[in-house]
Amino acid sequence: MGTQRRRTINLYGWAVVIVAVLNQHCCHGSCTEKELEKREEEANIVLTGTVEEIMNMDPVHNTYSCKVRVWRYLKGKSRVNGEVLLDGGNKVMIGGFGDPGICDNQVATGDTRIFFVNLAPEYMWPAHKNELMLNSSLMRITLRNLEEVEHCVEGRLTFIHLLPGLGAVF
Ligand SMILES: *[C@@H]1O[C@H](CO)[C@@H](O)[C@H](O)[C@H]1NC(C)=O
Repeated sequence: MGTQRRRTINLYGWAVVIVAVLNQHCCHGSCTEKELEKREEEANIVLTGTVEEIMNMDPVHNTYSCKVRVWRYLKGKSRVNGEVLLDGGNKVMIGGFGDPGICDNQVATGDTRIFFVNLAPEYMWPAHKNELMLNSSLMRITLRNLEEVEHCVEGRLTFIHLLPGLGAVF
């Protein structure tokens, strides 16, 4: 009887350990991230920047926009112009934070991140006119992340640049 009971407790203990391990290594809720190449393809603009101000908090959907100081465009700089540029040109408004369709979607003032964005489509006007909308998860700035993103962007550019050369070879 005593042995039986100990065995049951042991099994229960193992179950707890296994569930805990799975939780940590497996699924992070139900949010799955697309691969980086796909994310880079879907975002017309990729930039690094620092969140200066959080604004336009939507109390119903818990979404918000941020004024972001841009450090560098990794992709699509020429698409960002006119009224999209704020405060003399080095800041933009980015919307879509808190979007449940995006896994890592939260920032605080002072956070510096890589942002994958698109110009707000017309159906989002006027609320998001001249805003960039978050298109996929925020990414921390590390050398490795920067290199991986640049590699995705340049991968295609290099290929396009190579084409005329290939034509000459073949
Ligand atoms: C990201 O942009 C693509 C278009 O390139 C669009 O189809 C998709 O719905 C956008 N995703 C989000 C979460 O806005």
